[in-house]
Amino acid sequence: MSESDATTASAANTTAAGASAAARQALLAMPKAELHLHIEGTLEPELALELAQRNGVQLPWNSLDDLRSQYSFENLQSFLDLYYQLMAVLRTADDFRDLMLAYLERASADGVRHAEIFFDPQVHLDNGLDFDMVVDGLLEGLRIGGERYGISGGLILSIVRDKPVESAQQVLDLAERRAEELLGIGLDSAEVGYPPSLFEECFARARSMGLHCVAHAGEEGPADYVTQALDLLHAERIDHGVHAIDSSELTARLAYDRIALTMCPLSNRRLQVVGDLHDLPIRRFLDRGVAVTVNSDDPAYFGGYIGANYQALADIGFSFDELEGFAKNSISHSFADEERKHQLLKELNDWQQDIPAKR
Ligand code: ADE
Ligand code: ZN
Repeated sequence: MSESDATTASAANTTAAGASAAARQALLAMPKAELHLHIEGTLEPELALELAQRNGVQLPWNSLDDLRSQYSFENLQSFLDLYYQLMAVLRTADDFRDLMLAYLERASADGVRHAEIFFDPQVHLDNGLDFDMVVDGLLEGLRIGGERYGISGGLILSIVRDKPVESAQQVLDLAERRAEELLGIGLDSAEVGYPPSLFEECFARARSMGLHCVAHAGEEGPADYVTQALDLLHAERIDHGVHAIDSSELTARLAYDRIALTMCPLSNRRLQVVGDLHDLPIRRFLDRGVAVTVNSDDPAYFGGYIGANYQALADIGFSFDELEGFAKNSISHSFADEERKHQLLKELNDWQQDIPAKR
């Protein structure tokens, strides 16, 4: 049987009920990059309670069950309320290092070879922490994790768009000295009512500091916010981008300019951006030539890390070839240097050669 015959035969193993157990396992081993991950969104409830105790931070929940009962979300804001509240337990450089290491260990188990990781410095500053301490802790975690797991990557400083624009500028004042240690600037938090246009100056400044530009847009906000992120912020990727599907002109532009979407299926379902995973417009983006990547966003809150996001798409009928395409996109649309991209694409290719046995 040829490799393509084997591929077809194994694809037939994928039933309406979901992907085969072997295929689900293989998806975890598939080399991939994670391009949309908030480090604070990897704070598992167990660790949150442990850090609260260690750091003497009072939380309104006394037990794990009590805290866990909070994890049902009506929309983005209801998630953000819990997410920002729990961030208060992060107090020291060691906390940030340990959080990063815990993420990288899980990411490594899910085949992540490169990770571009958001952090929200404005929130930590508001909690009385020092910018350099936060960055030092996260970078130390990345360095140790890089040695331990062979994962490359970097930090994307994310602007919290529902805080005053001046506070974003203050963070950039602090980041300027350390711009070479950062990979990029992003834009996150409550979207509707906080259009990208508010942050044109911030992003221009970040670009002049040599930072890559990405922005959350079209998660709950309209397609026009995605257009603004491209026109005004010069975003090189769009985080989520779900509502870009509402404009054929915009999807044509995303395809033509090779702007990838960093999509997060489990997040979109849990935050009720879509009622059901089948309602995600991923297939329509593919039909229009838009590059899609698969990511976990805030895995401690949404029921799964990146591997679970790939598996969820397999379960609703995306083929192995399509899922491999998402992994390939994640590497080629990363900000890794060309040598690293080449190395990772080769890893993915080598892995693919071995697939018939693995599916
Ligand atoms: N911050 C953390 N997760 C986010 C999301 N899904 N959307 C906007 N801001 C976020
Ligand atoms: Zn996000």
